[in-house]
Amino acid sequence: MRYGLGANRQWVALFALLGALACLLQPAASVKEKDFKKCDQSGFCKRNRAFADHAVAQASTWSSPYNLLSETIAFKDGQLQAVILKSIGTESETARFPVTVSFHKSGTARLTVDEERRMNKEIELRHDSKARKERYNEAEKLVIVGGIEHDSAAEITYQDEKQVNIKYGSEGKFEAVIKFSPFEADFRRDGVSHIQFNSHGWLNLEHWRPKVDKPEAKEGEETPPAGEDESTWWDETFGGNTDSKPRGPESIAMDISFQGYEHVFGIPEHTGPLSLKQTRGGDGHYAEPYRMYNSDVFEYELDSPMTLYGAIPFMQAHRKDSAVGIFWLNAAETWVDITKTKDASNPLSLGAGGKTNTHTHWISESGILDVFVLLGPTPRDMTKTFGELTGYTAMPQEFSIAYHQCRWNYISDDDVKDVDRKFDRFKIPYDVIWLDLEYTDDRKYFTFEPHSFSDPLSTGKQLAEHGRNLVLLIDPHIKKVDGYPVHSQLKSKDLAVRAKGGDAYEGWCWPGSSNWIDCFNPKAIEWWKTLFKYDAFKGTRENTFIWNDMNEPSVFNGPETTMPKDNMHFGDWEHRDVHNINGMTFHNATYQALLSRAKGEYRRPFILTRSFYAGSQRFGAMWTGDNQASWDHLGASFPMILSLGISGYPFAGADVGGFFGNPDTDLLVRWYQAGAFYPFFRAHAHIDARRREPYLLGDPFTAIVTSAIRLRYSLLPAWYTAFFHANRDGSPIVRPMFWTHPSEEAGFGIDDQFFVGSTGLLVKPIVEKDKESADIWIPDDEIYYNYFTYDVVKTQKGKHITIHAGLDQIPLLMRGGHIIPRRDIPRRSSAMMRFDDYTLVVTVAKDGSAEGELYVDDGDSFDYEKGQYIHRKFVLNGSSISSVDAEGRDGKSLRPGNWMKAMQDVHVDKIVVVGAPASWDKQKVQIASEGKTWEVKVHYYAAEKERAAFAVLGRVGAKIGEDWTIDLEA
Ligand code: NOJ
Repeated sequence: MRYGLGANRQWVALFALLGALACLLQPAASVKEKDFKKCDQSGFCKRNRAFADHAVAQASTWSSPYNLLSETIAFKDGQLQAVILKSIGTESETARFPVTVSFHKSGTARLTVDEERRMNKEIELRHDSKARKERYNEAEKLVIVGGIEHDSAAEITYQDEKQVNIKYGSEGKFEAVIKFSPFEADFRRDGVSHIQFNSHGWLNLEHWRPKVDKPEAKEGEETPPAGEDESTWWDETFGGNTDSKPRGPESIAMDISFQGYEHVFGIPEHTGPLSLKQTRGGDGHYAEPYRMYNSDVFEYELDSPMTLYGAIPFMQAHRKDSAVGIFWLNAAETWVDITKTKDASNPLSLGAGGKTNTHTHWISESGILDVFVLLGPTPRDMTKTFGELTGYTAMPQEFSIAYHQCRWNYISDDDVKDVDRKFDRFKIPYDVIWLDLEYTDDRKYFTFEPHSFSDPLSTGKQLAEHGRNLVLLIDPHIKKVDGYPVHSQLKSKDLAVRAKGGDAYEGWCWPGSSNWIDCFNPKAIEWWKTLFKYDAFKGTRENTFIWNDMNEPSVFNGPETTMPKDNMHFGDWEHRDVHNINGMTFHNATYQALLSRAKGEYRRPFILTRSFYAGSQRFGAMWTGDNQASWDHLGASFPMILSLGISGYPFAGADVGGFFGNPDTDLLVRWYQAGAFYPFFRAHAHIDARRREPYLLGDPFTAIVTSAIRLRYSLLPAWYTAFFHANRDGSPIVRPMFWTHPSEEAGFGIDDQFFVGSTGLLVKPIVEKDKESADIWIPDDEIYYNYFTYDVVKTQKGKHITIHAGLDQIPLLMRGGHIIPRRDIPRRSSAMMRFDDYTLVVTVAKDGSAEGELYVDDGDSFDYEKGQYIHRKFVLNGSSISSVDAEGRDGKSLRPGNWMKAMQDVHVDKIVVVGAPASWDKQKVQIASEGKTWEVKVHYYAAEKERAAFAVLGRVGAKIGEDWTIDLEA
């Protein structure tokens, strides 16, 4: 050998150094981005963008080749049916697309377009594929739960050879104007156009065609320029993986314009701002469309339209006093371009800038075209109507909205028990401790590692002593190994996702070689249920709940870290058709399984999911995956969570502390203060991250974090009430400014502050290093108090105010006019607080009034569906405060169950009236309840400097579930 070992080592070191330097010089973004497709690496996205560009280049000479045949129109019972004819190329070839426009009692309209030839199965599949010949049309079955009852009052109000007009919605406020040549649809409210389909002519439905092998170009000869780019029609390769595409090109795309709307929100999950950016370049814009193709994106980028773990193709447009939206029901890979134009000539335009229109271009790889139209007019209408379609957030297990302690991994039963004791020793409340991957025996789910977790039941028992719970990770990949019954059952019952050849698909994930359960198969769900029975999953008990991870699905050796698109699911649908729903089907299977763990046990499941689709909110919480321990990631979590909240999925959170890396103490402290305002509040860390349980931080940080967690606990009644509203009508749990104040234009772009439910609590978490103040934008003329000091904040509507917030302080204001329910005694867990008395904090509005709500039930069962709940409305009105049933129920017909009976011993203990006028300056007041009256002591504190006057009523003693009135005049 020429070089001795030593010399060789030097070379290795030098190359390593050069390599490291090269990495440093590369923009960080490219490292991960190259693993995922850009639009021009995704054949159908590129083709559709090119189609749109071609249309734009042709300008006024462009005519969309889709014409609705007026003679085919039939209208009956709120539904219009017809056929759209597509002219193909220059020849007289055509393709027929049956179209349905339905009008629903809920006020939504729906356009569906299918391909006749595919409906009739008159196509040939290539490569001996066993896939279905139809376009995927079953998303509705998995996603839509209501709101599609036809509105038979919808009526045609005008029709000629060019168009048909249909009035629908309450009092015929809405109108669809469908033009025939080319096909266009214009959705109007009160006579004004809000949403337009195909007004740019970018509708593109790639029809089925047989593959015609063209003669190969001879050497030296140029390939003749084809009319269309066919290079990705028949197969497509990316990152070394080839997708076989047995049906050839089949994408669907359409332009959807929002007339007069500058802001569009929604289409999570992305890391950019709440108000979506334009995507075709220009200053500050993205150059790529927003992508929705659920993926396990390692170390994801911020401020990016790249895809992430979940997708909700719902978008709402907003302008002063008006909100409208669309839901693009498609489960395949989808891209959305957004551009905006100014329209100064429009008579509606006000001011110098003119009216802004937002144009969007939706592009999906396969499936039918299926779009819902929501005409608002308020953001509240949007979330309500969208929830009617896709379901509202499940009422959570009460514990699940408290604090969760997780890391990858707690390493043994003893470790868990020790962490549990330490939380107690440091008097830090927590409700749940989590076990990640390593609790399993060799990554075989439904087993425990026999040495470290030899006695999980005793762990569960210790946790239960203080009302705490254990969450276990269960992923959809099943280790392919002999002697593992879960795997042998999956195989023998034939319940796995299949590869294109028909055998169970095999890929690589945490356990090594694995197969994947196919939860589109109802039989797979039935089997999955058997695995969770207490006597099957030994070591689990009533306080064990589940975490579903990696369900995009993540496949380490798969294309773009997921499954090949030509894999096959139940019903012979290709994976391409159903990809974005896959995660939800797994979440649903686990939900069904937890519902049936034991006979007679009918409790609310708690399951966290990483992958999701519209509808996943019905099955439990989600979190934003593998973030980083950086300030930027802390800041990015809020637009993400707000976006999810207005898109029907409000039970959302981000890993507190950041998953990758080791947060500095100040970052961790700020993250806890922020996380205490995530609807889902869980700390989590990567296996390589140092331990960071709050008690390890030391003084004063442990104390600061403890008070942030305690703040969350004391406000749990308010949070739970916010969850109740999300469950009833889809209201977001944390609410952005545009949602609460839809008339205040300056607030539409704000996504770093929010209200908690309808409490009037306005939070602006600190997400920057060394920042000791917060600039809070004030949306209205109401009075605002500092939550902690009762200082009246000097505000002016539409202006920012600055408040000081040292590391131990959270910028939290109370808007005047609300009554906030709290529980003030710190305990170990939420369960230990279940029968504690309440405190009500009344924030007196400028006009002297205030109103609030409390919803409470047993937090565990489904008895609330039978009326077993307390729902109070509190009102401060001039000189009285009262509590009445918020739904006007008299309660007499209800036989109280055990929980309701126990609640008869729960009282309002304290009332704090912040901003109390001098009429409260007295020793005592009289309270009347249940036919009795008694006196309650008052301590009145006059205003001092900035601090508002306030009154504290101690030992009020009225039952929380009963009516009562405090009358200052009595
Ligand atoms: C990926 C998840 O995003 C992360 O939270 C988890 O810790 C690891 N999988 C290991 O299970």
